Parts: sequence; structure tokens; C-alpha cells
Amino acid sequence: MNNPLHDGFGRKINYLRLSVTDRCDLRCTYCMSEKMDFLPRDQILSLEECMLIARTFVGLGVDKIRLTGGEPLVRRGLPGLVARIRELDGLRELALTSNGSQLAQYSVALAQAGLSRINISLDSLDPAVYRRITRGGELDRVLAGIDAALAAFGSARVKLNTVMLQGVNHQELPSLLRFALERRVDISFIEQMPMGETGFSHASSFYSSSDAQAQLMQRHQLIPSLESSGGPARYWRIPGCESRVGFISPHTHNFCSSCNRVRVSARGELFTCLGSEGMADLMPAVRAGDEAGLHDLIRQALAAKPQEHRFDLSQPKNTIMRFMSRTGG
Ligand code: 5AD
Ligand code: SF4
Repeated sequence: MNNPLHDGFGRKINYLRLSVTDRCDLRCTYCMSEKMDFLPRDQILSLEECMLIARTFVGLGVDKIRLTGGEPLVRRGLPGLVARIRELDGLRELALTSNGSQLAQYSVALAQAGLSRINISLDSLDPAVYRRITRGGELDRVLAGIDAALAAFGSARVKLNTVMLQGVNHQELPSLLRFALERRVDISFIEQMPMGETGFSHASSFYSSSDAQAQLMQRHQLIPSLESSGGPARYWRIPGCESRVGFISPHTHNFCSSCNRVRVSARGELFTCLGSEGMADLMPAVRAGDEAGLHDLIRQALAAKPQEHRFDLSQPKNTIMRFMSRTGG
């Protein structure tokens, strides 16, 4: 039996989010700047090194891994990596977060490789608004990707994520909810977090979960649900509908006390908290194949995991300077 990892506040850590690339085929305004410098190839974890990290964390008691990016599907060989991670003894769930642009092509291969679940970003159903948010993305591609994922995984294993943006997509939340209800998939509405200098004002486009709930309640009966996916979302249900409606509210509802996760960036940095700059560089130990060293680094970093994050939109200088695509979304 693995001895579960705990942090300095007694929280059990069983969930790793592993970023396999900082690159993406889109440039969402809340995530990236228009011109991004991506990391040179040799600074990025190789697939073999991703495997070593996954194996090490699972050996330490992690039983859920989510592959993130950037966009994980721009990394060549991803379905093969999924198949190999899936085989790790002790892993219960292997999930993926994707922007959906390549899921028409990859859904079947990912399902065959043993992927458990997919979260797909969908911020608008209006092609022009989608293009504006993603700086050039094509809505039709993600819609085809969602169809393919639903066919390959079934609606219970697909979830949609919408980042709420005041004045950009906030008036579309009811249509996005209807889209999810019609497909019987869960949807989470996410408050924008101030990550990185994206050339976009986070404060002026902030739209809160409570505003979203008030808006949606004008059309639907939203009933708070006690269910939890173990993550930061608070779920609501609509009578007669299968979909769950989640709200992720890093600003208004602090979920840190039940935080069960850590992140490893594509550069091999271990971040124990999204809201703080602290990290442990795993790369030297990874490149040296030093598994004992990795164990020590991970345990030390967890002992120092912050108790909670603080985002303060009233303090422009308080932005976390790391891009989400670099941290792993
Ligand atoms: N705020 C909130 N969510 C973000 N994401 C990326 N950047 C941000 C941000 N600044 C999330 C979105 C997207 C996923 C890849 O990462 O949910 O769907
Ligand atoms: Fe790419 Fe996702 Fe960032 Fe958009 S949010 S730029 S799709 S990584």
C-alpha cells in the first residue's frame, strides 16, 4: 500500500496535473499574450521524462492525473503517453483538458488508449466571439471535436469549461448552459483568474459566479448539490436534467482547505499552489534519473505548500506573473 502524500496542513494530495507542453494552437486572451515566447524543445520534459514524473507521483500515492498544456494535443505522441501512464499500478483516473480543436481527429485514439475523461473549453457559441476570445480559433472545429469526444467517451465522461468574461461572453451563459443540457454533459463556469500579462485587463472583464447564478436562475431552477468531484467546483442541478452545473470561484469562494492537487509544468517545475510563485525545480533530478532525489524534492515542496491562495483584482501589481499555459491550466 502506498503511504498517501500529505502537505504541511494535513491535506491529502492525490491529484497531479501534468503539463505536457506550454504550446497551444490558440491564444485565449485570458491565458496568453498575442505574441508568446515558447520554451525551446530541450527545456521541455520528454515523453520519457513525463512518464518518470507520472510513475514517481503514482508511487507516492497519487491516484489521479490530468494531462494539461498549453494544449496537450499539440504534443506529438500524446495518445501513446496516455496508454503508458494508464498502465501504472495504483492510478484510478487519467484525464485530459483540451481546447477541443483537434478532438475530431484524436478522440477515438484517446479513448482506445484508456483515457478516463476529457474537459473541453468552450467559451462561446458565436463564431465571431469565439474567434475574438481565442484570437483566431474556429468554432466549427471545437464543435466537431465535442461531437467526436461525445461519441468516443459518452456524455458522462465529457465536461465543458467556460471562462466567464464580462462584456465578452457573459450574456451567452444561458445558451452555453442549454448546449450542455441538450448533450447531457456537465458544464463548469469559471471565474477568470489574473494569470500572466496577457495584454488584456482581467479586472474589467471579471464576471462573478454569483452574477452568473443570478442570471441563470431567471430561466432555470438551480438547486445546490452536495456532490463534489473532489475539485474546486461547487455543483448545482436542474430538476429533470442530467447535467451538473459547476461554478469555480477562486475569488468568492475559497476552496483551498480541501485542495488535493499539485501541478508540474512542461519545464518540470512543481507548483504546489496556483496562487503563489513558489516552485521546486524537478528537472535536474529528472534528467539525472534520480528517483530518490525526486521523492525528497516532492516531499519537501509539499511540506511547504501554502495554506491558501489570494487573488486581488484591486491590486494590478498582484497578478501572478506566470502564464496559465506555463503553469498548466
Ligand atoms: N482564468 C481562469 N481559467 C483559466 N484557464 C486558462 N487561463 C485561465 C484564467 N486566467 C483555464 C480555462 C481553460 C483551461 C485550459 O484553463 O478553463 O479552459
Ligand atoms: Fe490554449 Fe487553453 Fe490557453 Fe486557450 S486557454 S490559449 S486553448 S491553453
